[in-house]
Amino acid sequence: MAMSDKRILCVGLICLDELLYCENYPVEDSVEMVVARELRPGGNAANDCAVLGELGVQCDLVGTLSINSRSGSFVKQQLETYGVNLKLCEIVEDKEFPVSICIINKSNGSRTILHHSGEWPWVSYEAFLKIDLSQYAWIHLEARNFDHLKKAAKRILAWNSGERRPIPMSIDMQYYDDQCLELMPTADVVIVSKDFARALGYKSMSDTLDGLYGYLKPGATLVVPWGEQGAAAKGPEGVFLAPAYPPERVLDTLGAGDAFCAALLSALSSGCPLQHSLRYACQVAGAKENVLSPVNLPLLVVQVGFQGHIEMYVPLPT
Ligand code: FRU
Repeated sequence: MAMSDKRILCVGLICLDELLYCENYPVEDSVEMVVARELRPGGNAANDCAVLGELGVQCDLVGTLSINSRSGSFVKQQLETYGVNLKLCEIVEDKEFPVSICIINKSNGSRTILHHSGEWPWVSYEAFLKIDLSQYAWIHLEARNFDHLKKAAKRILAWNSGERRPIPMSIDMQYYDDQCLELMPTADVVIVSKDFARALGYKSMSDTLDGLYGYLKPGATLVVPWGEQGAAAKGPEGVFLAPAYPPERVLDTLGAGDAFCAALLSALSSGCPLQHSLRYACQVAGAKENVLSPVNLPLLVVQVGFQGHIEMYVPLPT
């Protein structure tokens, strides 16, 4: 199988997002009118896969899913329309499917997420163990559920230490947890969010690169997206900065970080150099901010050359 025929495997959260668009962010203890309401699939890994699907990359999503509940079957059906393969998901039927209430402030595109997972289980290591890794060009893990994740990372490292072609592994660290530092040396690419960096006291992208790069294994790459300031990365090829590409008017930032991550994976897994991959990821994240809802790139046709510029960006008729 040629490298280009291979798929990306993403492991992480799948949930239902309820999007509430308001003219302004609500004032506490007030009544605010919601001007539009929408239901969408959500979760970092699910959004990553939806964007990968939109970018024409084949991907398999591993998470926990319900197929008999209304929310679960809606999410499944929607993700499948993006071309995401859900056959490796673990099916859970006796618990309430996780939901995020996402308040989107139409005046500046900010998103505020209220997430509820309750008793919903995270995907188990046993589910991960059943996967035939040989089909993948890249494996991407979302940093949650650390006991299972550490075992999954160990399995990938063991796989890569054999005679086979190694599979690059990336980890997306959105929310700070001490255990993330332990996981950092296992990955080839670590993506840390601005919130994660701030939780550690870093005030800028360069502080974060300087402070965290030493945790990574030799030859690995650290990527730090920083919203309106763009993104920075440090790897064996050097240190790179890419500007943000915000639209004229930011409509909706929900899922922009996930769009960044998916575009980065799609570029890096195709062999695109780090500098260009970073710029491409910033451009796709900016394109996302120009459309409503998390990853509603069906509203767009995004065709990007791996020289790092968007060649065509056309809203499809609704
Ligand atoms: C956006 C998002 C939402 C989800 C939440 C989970 O980045 O993935 O779709 O509700 O974050 O943390």
